[in-house]
Amino acid sequence: MAEAILEVRDLHKHYPLTQGILFRKQVGAVRAVDGVDFDLAAGETLGIVGESGCGKSTVARMLVNLERPTSGTIRYKGDDITTLSPRALKAVRRNIQMVFQDPYTSLNPRMTVGDIIGEPYEIHPEVAPKGSRRQKVQDLLDVVGLNPEYINRYPHQFSGGQRQRIGIARGLALQPEIIVADEPVSALDVSVQAQVVNLLDSLQAEFSLSYVFIAHDLSIVRHISDRIGVMYLGRIVEIGTDAQIYDHPTHPYTQALLSAVPVPDPEARAHRERIILTGDVPSPANIPSGCRFRTRCWKAQERCELEVPALAVPAVFRLTDSPAKHDSACHFAEEKQVVPPEEGATGPAAPPENGANGADGRNGPEKPESP
Ligand SMILES: Nc1ncnc2c1ncn2[C@@H]1O[C@H](COP(=O)(O)OP(=O)(O)O)[C@@H](O)[C@H]1O
Ligand code: SF4
Ligand SMILES: [Mg+2]
Repeated sequence: MAEAILEVRDLHKHYPLTQGILFRKQVGAVRAVDGVDFDLAAGETLGIVGESGCGKSTVARMLVNLERPTSGTIRYKGDDITTLSPRALKAVRRNIQMVFQDPYTSLNPRMTVGDIIGEPYEIHPEVAPKGSRRQKVQDLLDVVGLNPEYINRYPHQFSGGQRQRIGIARGLALQPEIIVADEPVSALDVSVQAQVVNLLDSLQAEFSLSYVFIAHDLSIVRHISDRIGVMYLGRIVEIGTDAQIYDHPTHPYTQALLSAVPVPDPEARAHRERIILTGDVPSPANIPSGCRFRTRCWKAQERCELEVPALAVPAVFRLTDSPAKHDSACHFAEEKQVVPPEEGATGPAAPPENGANGADGRNGPEKPESP
């Protein structure tokens, strides 16, 4: 793997649970992020996947410094950004930008697109001196597939997919090295999702970006990710290359998630085993002892209640050359092919990219691109 640009170690975010109005007493904690480790290599895309509430956005907010960790370290090129001085932090923040989940609420409706995309220059004027900003913003609109003449329009004049392109343009404004995309396509129509994923994919090569790409669904991240980490209740439970995770998953939770990935071929679908998890996700304020997945795991045994499984290569695979040899936090890790291999080639990236128009509409009148 290329050198790590970001190293995350033992990252925790616990929100205190308090009781009482006058004398607030802490009675517990929501362990939203509860010991996350991963590296991000320069130029790489790491997909992070897990059900709603497992702590993905909290990780994202800590990576871009919108929130401080309770404990743990986030090293950007060797420096722990959680302990930097405000001055040093400002420079780092420029290099790690976020694209938000919901393009309907994350753009200020009273600002023009030009002001939205150019806003980061107010904080970092060194990137674009005042006189050059309009041109910069128009270049960015062009880069994300929008007409540069739209610079004076307002967010409501755009479709969902176009708004997410605006969000991406804003994320690119400061020429960052890392983009943390928190479910960037979850709020969009399925037909538009692939276009936005493809845009991010092509921007990556053009601008040498590294991505942390967050999704709640394994089907979205496959084609854009080099590696994928699967999160459950505040922790990564399995991490590996896309082939390792899709074709050789060893953690029961990953296998269950994969069994729910849509399979377009009816023949393959008929032969695919669905793993239905029983029970609800436990509250992050009350995480089960031992393996946190045990209350929903069909393989759980006594050991699972007593011992926390480490995220490491399971002993059974340690001396093999099998693709199952990757980190998995399970005492009884076993390989299980869930998605038929020929299915691996299909996914949401199937429809062709056709710019900002076409199916890129979700609500409101579509503004046709001028030629
Ligand atoms: N500011 C907060 N205060 C208390 N609990 C929070 C806060 N932010 C998030 N949480 C809780 O932390 C858990 C993880 O949330 P989040 O990171 O948003 O998950 P995801 O993005 O995977 O859906 C959830 O149970 C959520 O309710
Ligand atoms: S450690 Fe036990 S409960 Fe946890 S995933 Fe493995 S088998 Fe299931
Ligand atoms: Mg989220």
